[in-house]
Amino acid sequence: MSAANAPISATQDTPSLLAQRFQAAVGKAVGDEHASANPQVRPANNPKFGDYQANLAMGLAKQLGQKPRDLAQKIVDALDVSGLCEKVEIAGPGFINLYLSEAFIDRQVAAMTSDADRLGVAPADPPRTVVVDYSGPNVAKEMHVGHLRSTVIGDCIARTLDFQGHRVIRQNHLGDWGTQFGMLIEHLIESVSPEKLASASFEIGDLNAFYQQAKKKFDQDTGFADRARARVVALQGGDKQTHKLWQALYNKSVEHFDAAYSRMGVLLTDDDIHGESFYNPKLPAVIEGLKKANTLKESQGAKVVFPDGFVDREGEPQPIIVQKSDGGYLYATTDLAAARYRIDELGADRVIYVTDARQSQHFAMVFATLRQVGWASQQVQLDHVPFGTVLGKDHKPFKTREGGTVKLIDLLDEAQRRAVEVVKQKNPDLSTDRCEQIAHAIGIGALKYADLSSDRIKDYVFDWDRMLSFEGNTAPYLQNAFVRIRSIFRKGEIAPGSLADAAIAIRQPTERALAVKLLQLPEVIEAVAQSLEPHRLCTYLYELASAFHQFYEKCSVLNAADEPTKHSRLALCELTARTLEKGLGLLGIGVVEQM
Ligand code: ARG
Repeated sequence: MSAANAPISATQDTPSLLAQRFQAAVGKAVGDEHASANPQVRPANNPKFGDYQANLAMGLAKQLGQKPRDLAQKIVDALDVSGLCEKVEIAGPGFINLYLSEAFIDRQVAAMTSDADRLGVAPADPPRTVVVDYSGPNVAKEMHVGHLRSTVIGDCIARTLDFQGHRVIRQNHLGDWGTQFGMLIEHLIESVSPEKLASASFEIGDLNAFYQQAKKKFDQDTGFADRARARVVALQGGDKQTHKLWQALYNKSVEHFDAAYSRMGVLLTDDDIHGESFYNPKLPAVIEGLKKANTLKESQGAKVVFPDGFVDREGEPQPIIVQKSDGGYLYATTDLAAARYRIDELGADRVIYVTDARQSQHFAMVFATLRQVGWASQQVQLDHVPFGTVLGKDHKPFKTREGGTVKLIDLLDEAQRRAVEVVKQKNPDLSTDRCEQIAHAIGIGALKYADLSSDRIKDYVFDWDRMLSFEGNTAPYLQNAFVRIRSIFRKGEIAPGSLADAAIAIRQPTERALAVKLLQLPEVIEAVAQSLEPHRLCTYLYELASAFHQFYEKCSVLNAADEPTKHSRLALCELTARTLEKGLGLLGIGVVEQM
């Protein structure tokens, strides 16, 4: 069967459909050994250049010692894009511009419309088992703005991979173990009455203040410091009473985290918690394993590993310490144990870690060690997802007016408060309840979107006014586009979802531009899954909403010239709403019917 007669699969995204045709053409034009060259099909960045462009000719020409434009011509001569494109052009040094045909667009949009759940996104084949390690706050410390980033980015990655059909296992790597618990437990004993301690009916209140008080005592009172050290020994030795107190601190902290998670609408539950304490019993085996693999070295009494390829400024091999001279284990030791657990017990073939960029070196060294020792085979993909710092308007790290760290819970409160003001202003007649509800979706949505929409590796400036604006690349702008579409349906008294079988006929330029954007959803989701960059989805949704507004300005929907056009356009509106809802959902952001 030639490509022309083969049925076009609605479950494949446009670039891969085009790529297949290109590979066939390259095979014909210059030989099958080059057919596997990546055709580099991507959306054209200007409608002047069509809908997609293929950039393979330049690279391949260099390899073959041919002129790029000549090679592009040979490829185009052999290219069969029947059923897909109406026009193919060569431009500049050898770009191949592709113009999708009306029939193809109509058919693909119709397929997407009738596929309400997946919207044309094919299920991952084969699905992988992916561990996403994110959030990871520390017990007895308040969650701060850095944890906001990890939580929000990690949640989006987990949702996206899950939607693709991968088996996603979320892991919350709590900082819930270590020598600091000696002083925290001692401080707890001294600051809470024995009865309350026994019944665990105490409140810690401000976790940061609690931590700071303990630290101050530890630094100033040698008696306290000695008791704290003895407490660490008791904790590690498994002393029952001490463990109970540790558990109480842990429980109180997890209550705080859970409250923040539920307000933020993130997926993490208590079942996802596997904190540092969970790996504590597994640490001796890590040291044993490193020894067996001949990777363990001694350095000034400490046990260390020198992963290949890491040197310090002087060019000396750089170690990671896995056991201190006093026998204590370190952050890296726990991460080695955690990776082994995830790969061996959870069966992960991809492990993703979402932390700030300052931990990049740590993960690079941990990954290198895992490979070197053979704990992670080449089949297991290890990804560190680093992110930058949140900055204040002064472009310095975001701090409270007093110069303290910004607590996550305070940000959530302020987001809600500000969103209520915005909603009230837009819609003064709303009941207080309704207003609070809508403000929740808008406030939390704005906060998350501001974080997700900037290239994560860069620092970003925290700006309430910008994130809550209804103009520009913001959550309220997208939520508002959804509301506008819903109001079209209300006005026309049409039930959303009643157009799944409408015949699609895309004719007007703005209508066509919207349709082509809609069809890009699968490729955008794949790009997010590969690059682990949520901002690509944000940019897409922003472009989609803009394309919708342009379409709506130019094309009458409810007053279209005839019924078929009206139904086709309503179906396009409906598909846009669904795509916005799905896309925002993958970002962890809700839509509202009215605002
Ligand atoms: N608790 C750490 C922090 O607050 C984050 C944990 C990240 N995950 C990991 N496997 N190390 O920075």
